[in-house]
Amino acid sequence: MRKRLSKNKRLTIAVAAVAVVAVAAVGFGVWSTTPAFCSALCHSPLANYVDGYYQTDLSQTSAGIRVHANAGLDCLSRHSRSTARQLGEAAHWATDGYQVDENGFLVKDETLLTKEFCTQSGCHTWEAVVDGTWGFAGNDEEFNPHASHQDGSVTCGDCHSIHQQNELYCAKCHDLNLPEGWVATSE
Ligand code: HEC
Ligand code: HEC
Repeated sequence: MRKRLSKNKRLTIAVAAVAVVAVAAVGFGVWSTTPAFCSALCHSPLANYVDGYYQTDLSQTSAGIRVHANAGLDCLSRHSRSTARQLGEAAHWATDGYQVDENGFLVKDETLLTKEFCTQSGCHTWEAVVDGTWGFAGNDEEFNPHASHQDGSVTCGDCHSIHQQNELYCAKCHDLNLPEGWVATSE
């Protein structure tokens, strides 16, 4: 006759199994908030974004992400992770339905890089940004990318790219010094 486990033993095994699952779940939960998770599960195209997050050279084209990473922000601080959104992402991933540009980056999300988004509480104080950028990059004092005759027609994302190259929109028409790592917006 097979020996049956005593009640106590069965209880111990059950408790141990629950503990293992709980530890695994907590571990997965922590891992799932790290930048590396985003590319580990979804590989391309997020690897580009994660590489930028971990790069150390601030003169690189995706300096914006480094600045945010240095400030202690991770992907989820600025990208929401609602269940609906994640299901949509999973569907795109499963069907390879991502739209990527020529550099392998996802087509821009227009809700990001707007004034409302960047100046939300705890982030950038608009007055300080404007005050600090008169005569930016050694240009004449009257030039400020954040206060000009273009106000209203340009938005943050017309110049700033967090993951790719920053472009100076004003340089379409004006001959201006470019900050390090920036390019002029072409016609
Ligand atoms: C016309 C181009 C342009 C637009 C539009 C623009 N910026 Fe900038 N921004 C710049 C340039 C150029 C700099 C200076 C970069 C440097 O000197 O390294 C800068 C710098 C900054 C900085 C750093 C300032 C500092 O004091 O270190 C912040 C923050 C910033 N911009 C936020 C924004 C936000 C938010 C918006 C949208 C509301 C915006 N920018 C729109 C061109 C632009
Ligand atoms: C579509 C072309 C165009 C763009 C883009 C543009 N400007 Fe201008 N800007 C002009 C023209 C034209 C003048 C008038 C020049 C004149 O009267 O001699 C001017 C004048 C100015 C002046 C007055 C000084 C001067 O050189 O006459 C400043 C300052 C200025 N722009 C800043 C900016 C800034 C900052 C940006 C980017 C946010 C920008 N401009 C983007 C065309 C442009």
